Amino acid sequence: MTETPVEALTELEAVAELAFLAKKMAELDQAYYQNDAPLATDAEYDAFKRRNEEIEKRFPHLVREDSPSKRVGAKASDDFEKVVHSVPMLSLANIFTYGEIDEFIDRIRRFLGLPEGAALEFMAEPKLDGLSFSALYINGKFVRGATRGDGAVGEDITENLKMIQDMPLTLHSADLLGGDIPERLEIRGEVFMNKADFFALNEMQAAKGKKVFANPRNAAAGSLRQLDPKITRDRHLSLFGYTFGEVSEEKWTTHAEFLEKIRSWGFPVNPENKLCWLPQDIAAYFSSLGERRSSLAYDIDGAVYKVNRRDYQERLGFVARSPRWATAHKFPAEQAQTRLKNIRVQVGRTGVLTPVADLEPVNVGGVMVSHATLHNEDEIKRKDVRISDLVVVQRAGDVIPQIVRVILDKRPENAKPFSFPTECPVCGSRVVRDMDQVAQRCSGGLVCPAQAVEKLKHFVSRDALNIEGFGAKNVAFFFDRGWIKTLGDVFELEEKYGADIRKLDGWGDKSADNLFSSIRKVQSGVELDKFLFALGIPQIGQATARLLAAHYLTVTELMTQLDAARDPASEAYQDLTAIESIGIIVAQELLDFFEEEHNRREVARLLTFIQVNDFVPVKQDDHPLAGKTVVFTGTLPTLTRSEAKARAVAVGAKVAASVSKKTDFVVLGYDAGSKAKKAAELSIQTLSEEEFIALCNNQKQ
Ligand code: IVH
Repeated sequence: MTETPVEALTELEAVAELAFLAKKMAELDQAYYQNDAPLATDAEYDAFKRRNEEIEKRFPHLVREDSPSKRVGAKASDDFEKVVHSVPMLSLANIFTYGEIDEFIDRIRRFLGLPEGAALEFMAEPKLDGLSFSALYINGKFVRGATRGDGAVGEDITENLKMIQDMPLTLHSADLLGGDIPERLEIRGEVFMNKADFFALNEMQAAKGKKVFANPRNAAAGSLRQLDPKITRDRHLSLFGYTFGEVSEEKWTTHAEFLEKIRSWGFPVNPENKLCWLPQDIAAYFSSLGERRSSLAYDIDGAVYKVNRRDYQERLGFVARSPRWATAHKFPAEQAQTRLKNIRVQVGRTGVLTPVADLEPVNVGGVMVSHATLHNEDEIKRKDVRISDLVVVQRAGDVIPQIVRVILDKRPENAKPFSFPTECPVCGSRVVRDMDQVAQRCSGGLVCPAQAVEKLKHFVSRDALNIEGFGAKNVAFFFDRGWIKTLGDVFELEEKYGADIRKLDGWGDKSADNLFSSIRKVQSGVELDKFLFALGIPQIGQATARLLAAHYLTVTELMTQLDAARDPASEAYQDLTAIESIGIIVAQELLDFFEEEHNRREVARLLTFIQVNDFVPVKQDDHPLAGKTVVFTGTLPTLTRSEAKARAVAVGAKVAASVSKKTDFVVLGYDAGSKAKKAAELSIQTLSEEEFIALCNNQKQ
């Protein structure tokens, strides 16, 4: 943006800029203080601040209520009140092998002096990979929530816990007088984010140009420790109770009884918890949990075994900072060591440069891995990764393989530090670190063949225009020959190069006709959101494109309103930024795109080739899938996973990663494994892809 000098601003422009700056700086503050992911350098931040001050100095009557100058620095996270735990929140000792289960039990038997054959039961529970919390109830009312902190002192997260849907604000007893609920009861447990919620959150974050989280645990932590509890509310968190701290009167004699009581009072308890009598039951629990790990809705990192009887627990007490009566049995990490052969830098369709590590192929938890992402330059520096290093690679759930660390004592002498290119490896344009992202971008725009070719691949891909038979290979091939350079060229391909294509090796009339007819099919009608997504505008992912389409409904309205929104003081701009989850960064990318003359021309050209259909809002309440939970498993015959998910979400369904009692439909593809079995066990309705598509297209009545 070119800046008008403050002296030259009209009053109207000043109003608009102050509004822009207030919103912008609030976003930057939030990113910095609450998401630990700065969106601007200190210098850029200061420049905004200075400009805001200067404009306010010249127009003192325009100072806004929410002006950044009125905020006494954004509150940092040490602004959470401190909570002293009256009973310390301790941790668990770990074991890693089956043999150690017997040692753990023998130790307890010896300590208690239990004769052989005397009963000793354990509660086996999943070890949830989240954050522990404490929730204090007085006379059944939730009054204070806290994090674990260092075990002695935590942070007050009362308001944040209240925002979690599963968190009971009042405990309800079946006993009408509530006499079985202790007057003071501190329930402790784990807050976590379901894997499906984690992926949905990351998609949203990415669409907004915000930080994506590395795993569900980080996402849960980042969502819970928010000074603005409304942010916690908007992120889906879950929780289970598994122990207690302070209690005025203990009204249970076993751990199982405690769990059953809080469950009956309405506090969520993990249904996977299981009482085990024999060491072999515990071992069987652990192995079954391991097998089911990937199909659970949430991440776990092992099991926890707890002596069931409370009197035994009391006698066993604590060693150091862990109870003698419980232990964690950790899963072996899905990690492996391998050699890093090279670091390549890929240029994506939006010009972002991503370093990728080429690895000696290695088996990580049953999957061969030969590449890992290194995210960005800062990540390479932070981990001090060098070419030829021996590295630890990790696969966590569905997340792309990552490099955990370098094994420094095995670093070869010739290990070569990597210097991040300052010029685009594809087109040689300057690499810039743009203001809103940690990422570095090639500044070449459409001149950069990598961006152009990636943009074209994206344009025709399944989730975008879905031109059948126009795979990435063909795009690259036609691009290399100069037959397609920009998006619109796709629609002139037949007319200009049809004859050449028919003559190409391995093509012939049939495949050429197929391609041309799929192109024509797309021209006869494309959904507005697909069209918008296909343009490949930075920050405009599928979800955001849908929101925009649902808002503007027609392509004409969209173009007219975006044109009007170029003026930040306009109603159209306010209207755009008021769309749910469209922040000013997303809005700016969109406006910047349409501001560029060549983009406007190209879009106008596209509209002469393609009929863009108006957005038809789905009356979600009427739809048979609205509000239902759907799980996909196996390879679907025609739809990609993302396509299938988008279809389900479009009609108001929720998509979950694993089958549970809450699942309504399981869509079965080829090689559907344990999820299909689970669906049968739970008598959940299954659908073929065809039935699923029919159901998606089919309104009730
Ligand atoms: S019981 C006295 N049960 O593991 C210890 N902890 O390494 C009471 N955790 O800080 C903890 N799942 O955050 C317990 N089912 C479970 C658990 C669990 C996860 C976490 C918890 C604790 C850490 C200890």
